[in-house]
Amino acid sequence: MEVPNHIAIILDGNGRWAKRRGMPRGYGHVKGCENLEKICEYASELGVKYLTVYAFSTENWKRSRSEVEGLMKLFRDYLKKCIKISRKWQMQVRVIGEISAFDQDIQKSVHTLEEFSSQFDKLHFQLALNYGSRDEMIRGIRKIAAECVSGKLSPEDIEEERFGDYLDTAGLPDPDLMIRTSGELRLSNFLLWQMAYTEFYFTDVAWPDFDKKELVKAIEQYNKRDRRYGGVKEEQNV
Ligand code: IPE
Ligand code: IPE
Ligand code: MG
Repeated sequence: MEVPNHIAIILDGNGRWAKRRGMPRGYGHVKGCENLEKICEYASELGVKYLTVYAFSTENWKRSRSEVEGLMKLFRDYLKKCIKISRKWQMQVRVIGEISAFDQDIQKSVHTLEEFSSQFDKLHFQLALNYGSRDEMIRGIRKIAAECVSGKLSPEDIEEERFGDYLDTAGLPDPDLMIRTSGELRLSNFLLWQMAYTEFYFTDVAWPDFDKKELVKAIEQYNKRDRRYGGVKEEQNV
């Protein structure tokens, strides 16, 4: 079984998972957050090199105040715990998204975690917080425009290969496999540029129930795909 180099996951379905059990949505987030700790273990055991998870979108601020507050509390605790997790799995953590929208202490935890984990490189773990692909691209385009105005860059230098350098994912390979849990068949503003040739896997399993067995299932499906990148395989060397 070939393990994808980079797996991206949209962690969806916490709320519905809880509702089905007669519990508040916040309980689903607690369970989802516990699973976030486990997924690094599974990815690490399977030998995944890059793992990117979508935990909070730029649109998720539209949730009720109490739900957002509950999520912030979970992120606070998780970011602190993640220091130990990063050491355990030798993983380098990077937060993608616009973190200036978060409280100062959360921003500080992000910096501490990124700095501490920069010594590791067995697994590269990207956590998308206040992430939106459109927002990321607009921020990147602003940087490019500023460099053009200052004369550091000229419009002809803006190339496909270099645009990625202006995104939060700069330096990372594009995802090979994208998994979305809980049945929705959409991208919800996740890695739109980076996933131009990514294979998609959708499952009805809700995020809190997505375990190692489910991850292996997704990878097995991925192995059945015929990736072409616009070419035709048999004719590659003709
Ligand atoms: C995913 O679960 C977690 C976040 C988006 C923060 P949801 O909260 O979207 O759960 P559902 O989709 O409403 O069930
Ligand atoms: C996408 O899930 C964002 C995250 C998982 C963080 P949502 O539940 O917010 O997406 P929509 O609203 O169903 O598209
Ligand atoms: Mg959802």
